[in-house]
Amino acid sequence: EKTAIGIAHSKLILIGEHAVVHGQPAIAIPFPLVGVETSVEYIPGSVMIDTTFYHGPLSTAPESLQGIAQCIQETLKHINMPAEDLVIRIKSSIPPGKGLGSSASVAISVVRSLFAYFEEDYTDEDLLTLANISETFAHGAPSGIDTLTITSQSPVWYEKEHPIDFIELSDDFHFVVADSGRIGDTRMAVESVAQLLKMAPKRIHRKLERIGQLTHHAKQALEKKGKHILGHMLNEAQKELEALGVSDAGLNRLIHFARSEGALGAKLTGGGNGGCIIALAQNEVHSRQLAEKLRKFGAHAVWPFVLKGNQEK
Ligand code: MEV
Repeated sequence: EKTAIGIAHSKLILIGEHAVVHGQPAIAIPFPLVGVETSVEYIPGSVMIDTTFYHGPLSTAPESLQGIAQCIQETLKHINMPAEDLVIRIKSSIPPGKGLGSSASVAISVVRSLFAYFEEDYTDEDLLTLANISETFAHGAPSGIDTLTITSQSPVWYEKEHPIDFIELSDDFHFVVADSGRIGDTRMAVESVAQLLKMAPKRIHRKLERIGQLTHHAKQALEKKGKHILGHMLNEAQKELEALGVSDAGLNRLIHFARSEGALGAKLTGGGNGGCIIALAQNEVHSRQLAEKLRKFGAHAVWPFVLKGNQEK
């Protein structure tokens, strides 16, 4: 019997999270060090789902899989196939609730696996629309940046309702991602910012705009070998995110430690209130040293990684 596979990497928000929900730009980068692989196989009967925490019919999947369940149903509808005779196995190395786009990666890999199984052609737009069904369920009002970055090979410049742009780096940039250990709830964090915006529209709007400006400067820094400027922008964005109430003690502790160990900048990444930080290292050796120090300092997981620049420039 045939098996089809759909894979997806994860994503990081470099700068602009939360503000992007309210129309500001954000920069996100594909993060290939963790990802999801979904396989689809024939099995007679109803659609079965197999994950690390649930094995059973799609129709009785737990709350946490409802977004994916809807996404599967809509994808089958889209390709005119009945919801039967399939087992869908989802294997993920992305820790959930850590700002790494786990839910969006699962959705993208599931949709890809179904299209592959039925040997059906699809556009990027089909893929994003179907995956966003699951994201809307998981996040309430997602900006769409997660699913988009997960289907991209290059850093993404993203503004809601604008054409997407990709950023060309002038140089290599070395980062460390470190997990604070606490699970964050993106939906709640996004709602809390919306709540603040209602209570103090002027003040919060200014903060979101400021994040937008910092994001513009960060783009220039990426394009013009400006790693010190980029670091400064990350630090400034973190101040605004703290003022928006989406950072927490565990994140702040790792961020301050990373800076004290020579990081050029550090901030939370993704929804916040738990999850991961991203720190800009001085160079490759420093990124490995910093990762090791963060791990000893108590980070639950660390990933040093490089964003490769276009060497011809
Ligand atoms: C989550 O990775 C990024 C947020 O800005 C939410 C979103 O854009 O949908 C917090």
